[in-house]
Amino acid sequence: MRAITHERQGEAVRVLSLRELSEPPAPAAGQVLVRVLSRPVHPGDLLGVEGVPGVTGQRFASPRSPGLEGMGVIEAVGDGAGELRPGLRVAFFPVPGAWSEFVTAPAGLVVPVPDGVGDETAALMLVNPLTLLTLLRAVEDSRHGDAGPIVQTAAGSSIGKLVGAAALRHGFPLVNLVRGSAGKQALRNRFPELPVISTADADWRSQVRDATGGRGAGTVLDAVGGSLTGDLVALLADGATLISYGALGSGSTALESLALTSRELTVRGVSVGRWLTRTAEERAEDVAFATRLAETDPDLFEVAGTYDLADYAEAITHARRPGKNGTVLLTSPAS
Ligand SMILES: NC(=O)c1ccc[n+]([C@@H]2O[C@H](COP(=O)([O-])OP(=O)(O)OC[C@H]3O[C@@H](n4cnc5c(N)ncnc54)[C@H](OP(=O)(O)O)[C@@H]3O)[C@@H](O)[C@H]2O)c1
Repeated sequence: MRAITHERQGEAVRVLSLRELSEPPAPAAGQVLVRVLSRPVHPGDLLGVEGVPGVTGQRFASPRSPGLEGMGVIEAVGDGAGELRPGLRVAFFPVPGAWSEFVTAPAGLVVPVPDGVGDETAALMLVNPLTLLTLLRAVEDSRHGDAGPIVQTAAGSSIGKLVGAAALRHGFPLVNLVRGSAGKQALRNRFPELPVISTADADWRSQVRDATGGRGAGTVLDAVGGSLTGDLVALLADGATLISYGALGSGSTALESLALTSRELTVRGVSVGRWLTRTAEERAEDVAFATRLAETDPDLFEVAGTYDLADYAEAITHARRPGKNGTVLLTSPAS
């Protein structure tokens, strides 16, 4: 089978290569073998390949294939795989090695794809909606009943648009931040009801203060971080929370430079990587939410472009292109 692999962390297009590996053995009890047809290039996948700043250069004992999410067709099932059977179209998360033509997955992490959901939507059906739920729970925890405005950065991202749609559906006050005028226009077209502000405007901080009614944000949902953190903390109301869930930005902000103590501010990290710590019942509810969303709102699972596995370098370049809309997919043939 073909697989994109790497043996050490480093610049993605340099350390990754397409290899021919032997196919996985027949699945053991409780496992299924999936022929993967489509998988996303998520920012988190690239972080896994390149390492986070300060923690790069890790080497692996055997070639590692990135990716935790994808969709495909079940090839074989082990004993005790429940209703899963060969030929069934499924999505999976979190299953390491999604950037390969086959993965062996625990049956419990494999989800049948409803007939009405296309392959491209199915490939994106789990991570982003589960991240949305993780973020909404963190927002809920942070607010102690306060209905103050929420500010989100990178609002034009795939996750940001899910948050935007959730704000409209549930009626919470959201202020969208993007980094440029093109992104601002695109998001205004998408969500005309929601304020959108570009951090490229010299007066963006005062625009946010106006949009939050002058009293500051109750919560900031931040995927950018870096040197923007100080500005975002300054936009919080006293006692409020900055929820960090991504590191798209550059530079850094010293914790000591933030008036956390005197203003009783909270900075909290959130990761969908901890989703498996939820109970089986909670995870089933979350997956049912994600599946429903894929059925009812496929436009929230926008695809920026599709590339064969062999064209991974172009796919990664596209995934990092400013102004792209949606997520890039890597595909492989059905047989
Ligand atoms: N913590 C978790 O569990 C978790 C899970 C999933 C995703 N995430 C994070 O969520 C974020 C969004 O992921 P996604 O897949 O939705 O992203 P995406 O669809 O690829 O979109 C990326 C967005 O980020 C914007 N952006 C890129 N660099 C930026 C910068 N330096 N400053 C401001 N904006 C910038 C882009 O704006 P332009 O349109 O201007 O190019 C684009 O709108 C990522 O940081 C990802 O790592 C976290």
